[in-house]
Amino acid sequence: MTSTFLLIGHLILLIPVFSAEKCIICDHFVLVGEPIAISCPVVTLPGLHSDYNLTWYKNGSPTPVTTETHARIHQREDLLWIIPAMLEDSGRYECDVRSFNHSNKKTIHLTVFENDNGLCFNGKMKFEQKVTSTNAGKIICPDLEHFTDEDSQPEVHWYKECKPGFLEDKRLFLAEGENAVLIYNAAVQDRGNYTCRMVYTYMGKQYNVSRTMSLEVKEGPLQVIPEFIYPRNNTIEVELGSHVVMECNVSSGINGFIPFWQVNDEDVDSFDSSYREQFYEEGMPHGLVVSGTKFNISKVEIKDYAYKFFCHFIYGSQHFSAYIKLERPARNIQGYLIGAGVSLVFLVFFTLFIYKIFRIDIVLWYRDSCHPFLGKKVSDGKIYDAYVLYPKNGESCLYSSYIFALKILPEVLERQCGYKLFIFGRDDLPGEAVISVADEKIRQSRRVIIVLVPEPSCYSILEDASEKQLAMYNALIQDSIKVILIELEKIHDYAAMPESIKYIKQKHGAIRWNGDFSERSHSASTRFWKKVRYHMPSRKDGSSSGLHLLPKDFNSP
Ligand SMILES: *[C@@H]1O[C@H](CO)[C@@H](O)[C@H](O)[C@H]1NC(C)=O
Ligand SMILES: *[C@@H]1O[C@H](CO)[C@@H](O)[C@H](O)[C@H]1NC(C)=O
Ligand SMILES: *[C@@H]1O[C@H](CO)[C@@H](O)[C@H](O)[C@H]1NC(C)=O
Ligand SMILES: *[C@@H]1O[C@H](CO)[C@@H](O)[C@H](O)[C@H]1NC(C)=O
Ligand SMILES: *[C@@H]1O[C@H](CO)[C@@H](O)[C@H](O)[C@H]1NC(C)=O
Ligand SMILES: *[C@@H]1O[C@H](CO)[C@@H](O)[C@H](O)[C@H]1NC(C)=O
Ligand SMILES: *[C@@H]1O[C@H](CO)[C@@H](O)[C@H](O)[C@H]1NC(C)=O
Repeated sequence: MTSTFLLIGHLILLIPVFSAEKCIICDHFVLVGEPIAISCPVVTLPGLHSDYNLTWYKNGSPTPVTTETHARIHQREDLLWIIPAMLEDSGRYECDVRSFNHSNKKTIHLTVFENDNGLCFNGKMKFEQKVTSTNAGKIICPDLEHFTDEDSQPEVHWYKECKPGFLEDKRLFLAEGENAVLIYNAAVQDRGNYTCRMVYTYMGKQYNVSRTMSLEVKEGPLQVIPEFIYPRNNTIEVELGSHVVMECNVSSGINGFIPFWQVNDEDVDSFDSSYREQFYEEGMPHGLVVSGTKFNISKVEIKDYAYKFFCHFIYGSQHFSAYIKLERPARNIQGYLIGAGVSLVFLVFFTLFIYKIFRIDIVLWYRDSCHPFLGKKVSDGKIYDAYVLYPKNGESCLYSSYIFALKILPEVLERQCGYKLFIFGRDDLPGEAVISVADEKIRQSRRVIIVLVPEPSCYSILEDASEKQLAMYNALIQDSIKVILIELEKIHDYAAMPESIKYIKQKHGAIRWNGDFSERSHSASTRFWKKVRYHMPSRKDGSSSGLHLLPKDFNSP
């Protein structure tokens, strides 16, 4: 097959010979230093007698081109050979065909080019070739037939932008048996200038034969199989009663494609007549088309959570579907936790607050209500619940402290509450040494109640003070006995009090008596008595209000 270049502006098209009839000005191009073989277009005209004489002339010269095959320019068979071409070979050539009844002449134009600066080709002599993106394509090294044998394939070297090595791309292969490169899955980056080069040997000399192809990559036909953009078998969280637009988008390369919604195997508008589907279509760049259908759920109802909403489309004989499922939002765990935390903190503070205010009542109530059920407490070896210390000397102290210690305290704590007290002056035997009795009885008591009066003089009596010292010693040093301070009147000045009293007052505080000293009955449920009972040990036996009537050694080990 012979071929011809047709130059139209800068476009060079490869014209097959059968259209040579239309070849008015026939242009040929060659790079300087490379060989070229030119055929005469007339030869292939139909109706030409098989017996004819063909002669080549250069530039209108009457002398035919020589048939001497050693000459650089010669005619061999019907072809005009120039091996190799030189710049001065550019020009007009004529082929003259003669047969018995026919004579014809054709003029050929030859241009000899040099390589463009720094390139292995000249941009004016490029073959345009096209491949389609995403498809397989071929780059063909054309117009080599005069330089190759039927039986041996020439070795062809390939260059892209004059550089070898581009064939390392895994999508590119040398085509077997053809002077071509195959491109699989062509892409835009494959466009460019490809040069193929082979070596032609003539008369023992080697010549390069090169062709350069400008490869264009066309946008291929779009991916034909439509696919869902949305939904993607996903769930979306929507609140009950909220408004949702249910969209289904399918991308394809064609218009008029209609997806549709279904739920519970029926069309959405039969599922709920307020669901009206709306179709839409939008052209996208690169020829893509988004086809969609949507409907509004103006108020999400419980039934909408029960089913998957399927979007379908049919393509050919295939049926595609994808769904959306509506879900109620999970409770906001974080907010919930924060709320719970705040409530808990509040509750704790509130409880502490309540406990602070009602501590005494709570403890007393607890003792009253729960203690009997807790079973018998292990005996602590004590006999008395409290040892009562009060000023017994000094005129000014006498009356109120006597009344309080000997009448009011026993009335409430012993008779009403069932405690057992040791009150000096009531429970001691005459003649016993105060010190030894006090020491022994304090050890046998769970509490020491100290009744305070404002007058410091009341404490100055030796006997009194030593008893008190003893109690303090037990309470402070051994820390085995709790001391309950009861002020009979407001004491403004503790400075005059003994150090130990000051210490206890500071550490545990004091309870102030605010009642009168009459002998009428006092209620154990006043604030004062509740405080006292709170500091008292819990009773061994809640039901026994007559504990003091029991034998003295009831609790002794
Ligand atoms: C071709 O040329 C040869 C010799 O030059 C001549 O004998 C022959 O007649 C020619 N044939 C035609 C068809 O002109
Ligand atoms: C020339 O002669 C051949 C047969 O000899 C015939 O087929 C052909 O048509 C003739 N051509 C012209 C141009 O007369
Ligand atoms: C191909 O070569 C021409 C010069 O002939 C150049 O302008 C163009 O950029 C080249 N193409 C590519 C893709 O490099
Ligand atoms: C053919 O081309 C190659 C690469 O451009 C070059 O190295 C070599 O010298 C050329 N051969 C001839 C005979 O021009
Ligand atoms: C569906 O396609 C339309 C039109 O291109 C677009 O406006 C909309 O955001 C798309 N919706 C989704 C969910 O992809
Ligand atoms: C869906 O609701 C939107 C407002 O959110 C409204 O613009 C649109 O017309 C409604 N479409 C249908 C089909 O009711
Ligand atoms: C979505 O679900 C449908 C039907 O359940 C299934 O045919 C389809 O392959 C699924 N698509 C994806 C992307 O999982």
